[in-house]
Amino acid sequence: MNKNILCIGAGYVGGPTMAMIALKCPGIRVTVVDVDAQRIAAWNSDLLPIYEPGLEEVVRQCRGRNLFFSTEVAKGIAENDIIFVAVNTPTKMFGHGAGCAADLQYWEKTARLIHDCAKGDKIVIEKSTLPVKSAAAMSRILYSGCTPYHFEVLSNPEFLAEGTAMADLRDPDRVLIGGDDTPSGRMAVEVIVDIYSNWVSRERILTTNVWSSELSKLAANAMLAQRVSSVNALSALCEVTEADIDEVAHAIGMDKRIGPKFLKAGVGFGGSCFKKDILNLAYLCETYNLHGVAEYWKQVVLINDWQQSRFVGTILRAMFNTVAGKRIALFGFAFKSDTGDTRESPAIRVAQMLIEEHANVVICDPQALGNARRDLADWEDRVVFESDPYTAAEGADAVAILTDWTCFKELDYTRVFSGMRQPSFLFDGRNCVNHAALFEMGFNVYAIGKSPRSHVD
Ligand code: UDX
Repeated sequence: MNKNILCIGAGYVGGPTMAMIALKCPGIRVTVVDVDAQRIAAWNSDLLPIYEPGLEEVVRQCRGRNLFFSTEVAKGIAENDIIFVAVNTPTKMFGHGAGCAADLQYWEKTARLIHDCAKGDKIVIEKSTLPVKSAAAMSRILYSGCTPYHFEVLSNPEFLAEGTAMADLRDPDRVLIGGDDTPSGRMAVEVIVDIYSNWVSRERILTTNVWSSELSKLAANAMLAQRVSSVNALSALCEVTEADIDEVAHAIGMDKRIGPKFLKAGVGFGGSCFKKDILNLAYLCETYNLHGVAEYWKQVVLINDWQQSRFVGTILRAMFNTVAGKRIALFGFAFKSDTGDTRESPAIRVAQMLIEEHANVVICDPQALGNARRDLADWEDRVVFESDPYTAAEGADAVAILTDWTCFKELDYTRVFSGMRQPSFLFDGRNCVNHAALFEMGFNVYAIGKSPRSHVD
């Protein structure tokens, strides 16, 4: 068995993960394939298809040395014995389980392709986040018909977060590898452990059975999202009392048992994973008749949706119950800072709701304008896209911060204010600017989980 690696799927997970493996294992040849020729061309160009701090440097160092991007999927399968599968598994939007279950069509096609193109034994590693028991299904496909080869299916979920992907990959909290407890399963796990131990210490590499590994990924995302929804639920209570959510979060986060991370209140979580994985988890629970457990997790998503509507409700109420014809600049469209990704971004819903209220919405984001244009294609003639925040706010009645980009924290808000119509409103959906100072400047300031600072009440 050769140790060279193929990764099927050149997206947010496959691209950065393979770039890191290539960097840390110069002796291993890593090939990333994708059916999307445009995407592969971008990986081979100076303008990578995803924005991720530090990624470009690593790709530049390894590309053409031991990192290759190609559309030749079948050839890649035939030539490599270790195959990572990092294809996307969005939420199914049709038929049984629509809106909840994972859409596994790309994943299944990939399994069949591996089956058809293999010319020897393979270790197939699930990198995509998948419903529990997917590895078993993958095995069934690989062994369908008659095949002379041995396929060992492992689960190696990726925990990287966007925006910090390279740091997360370089120094992961843990690497999780799930495999069957059989001699061939244990051997395959060791092959993957060896790859990671080139840069990750052995105690951080956990090996479990396949199902624990698959479930751990869904559970980790569900628990992280649950913290955000918990703090966002409390933020609503803070807004109607004198409590301040940042102070409350700080106080509870200092309890070592709770810890300070993922307690930042905001306009809601986004990203390709949280909602999808929770719905997946809930669907799984329902499949096993665990309806109460499913309801418990679904509530995390419901609070998140509510938080977004609540934010728009605050804007409406503060602006005298009408935003029709008013210019509202949205600062940030990405689901979080340091990424151009807008999947499930709260900004999408906020923008749509404001457009429905007939506001003149201006979208400003340093990295996500391309994606924002696609997301709002149906409302094209009713939105303006602007890369300069001062221009976006020119003549605006309100600014709403939806992504905590550093560039929005560091703006000269006196200049922003001077270009706006009066009374000027600032809605901070990420609690990332100095509210007292902005209020002093003349803004009416509304933040998440804090009492409003208004000159007009
Ligand atoms: C997440 C997981 O963190 C990662 O381990 C997994 O592999 C993929 O899903 P990601 O979606 O990239 O990563 O972003 P993350 O940093 O977790 O943030 C998710 C969302 O929660 C963002 O919209 C962010 O703004 C929001 N968030 C996060 C908060 O609102 N408050 C917080 O305290 C933390």
